[in-house]
Amino acid sequence: MVDLYGKDFITTQEWSVEELRHAIDVARKLRAIVKRGDRPPRVLDRKNFFMLFYAPSTRTRGAFEAATAILGGHPAFIDVSTTRMEEAVKDAAKMYDSYADGIGVRILDKYIDFVYGAGLKVVREFARAAKVPVINMADCTFHPTQGLGDIMTIEEKLGKLQGKKYTITWAYSSKPRGRCSIQEEVLIATRFGMDVTLSHPEGFEIDPKIVEWAKQNAKESGGSFEICHDFEEGLKGANVVFPRSWGTAEFLRVGASKFGVDKEIAIYNRYRNWMLDQRHVDDLMDKPAIVTHVLPVMRGEEATDAVMDGPNSVIYEQADDNFYAKMATLALTMAKEVPL
Ligand code: CP
Repeated sequence: MVDLYGKDFITTQEWSVEELRHAIDVARKLRAIVKRGDRPPRVLDRKNFFMLFYAPSTRTRGAFEAATAILGGHPAFIDVSTTRMEEAVKDAAKMYDSYADGIGVRILDKYIDFVYGAGLKVVREFARAAKVPVINMADCTFHPTQGLGDIMTIEEKLGKLQGKKYTITWAYSSKPRGRCSIQEEVLIATRFGMDVTLSHPEGFEIDPKIVEWAKQNAKESGGSFEICHDFEEGLKGANVVFPRSWGTAEFLRVGASKFGVDKEIAIYNRYRNWMLDQRHVDDLMDKPAIVTHVLPVMRGEEATDAVMDGPNSVIYEQADDNFYAKMATLALTMAKEVPL
């Protein structure tokens, strides 16, 4: 019997595979209810979900806001820049804890000067101070509801995940970005038995702790995890590709102010050919092959329009599944029972 009521969701790595499976199952049931034109049970009736956005969002905000309302709850959108940011995180967290039945926090990228670890530290402080569940809506390190929704789409499209190759590849962009989605994908895909290849140029290494966990996950699930430094080599035989830019390890270690954004972009400019095109999918990937992206995708940089709008792209289904993954997360963590 899986019980997620009251549980924080900071990273998929902190939920068991059974709990993740249960959340996916609930997300699929909620999707079926909505798709047939019905309304899910109002399990969040008279409950408040406070969504604290230190950093902006299109999808995550929209999905959490709509999902809370559909479940009968009240989504309170807080643009943190309009609040008293000077106070201790603990004090703000204690206050929201008394108003809320659940708290979501998003803090990443330029809102933490790209300093790796700074966003997760705030999310953890909220989780320590609050008795209600704290849901990580993306920080410097993790993006759990994204990982949950993405694996749902991949399974939907490929069937059995065991033995399927998932290439998560660095791709060119003219703007620095964090690596929360990358690291979350690496973690959840290795938990579910996939053969994961993380592909990037030298210097873009992810958190060594995530690499260690991914190797351990793969050992336990019967999957595999490898790192590759060649764009085309990494794509060979893949069933899934996720082309996404992220910052160099040094940039994310010291932060943008100290390292310099121009210096960082000059490094990316050496790898402009790390851009996914339909030719890569057709010539290098296995069949079936799907192209994913958490969005926003940097069109003409990370990937061409041809591939993002092409026959293998599943980006809009993925965004849709992410809605239900978030709905399931809210229902399971904030409601005692979810009758479906
Ligand atoms: N994928 C995702 O987190 O998108 P947003 O940044 O728009 O929320």
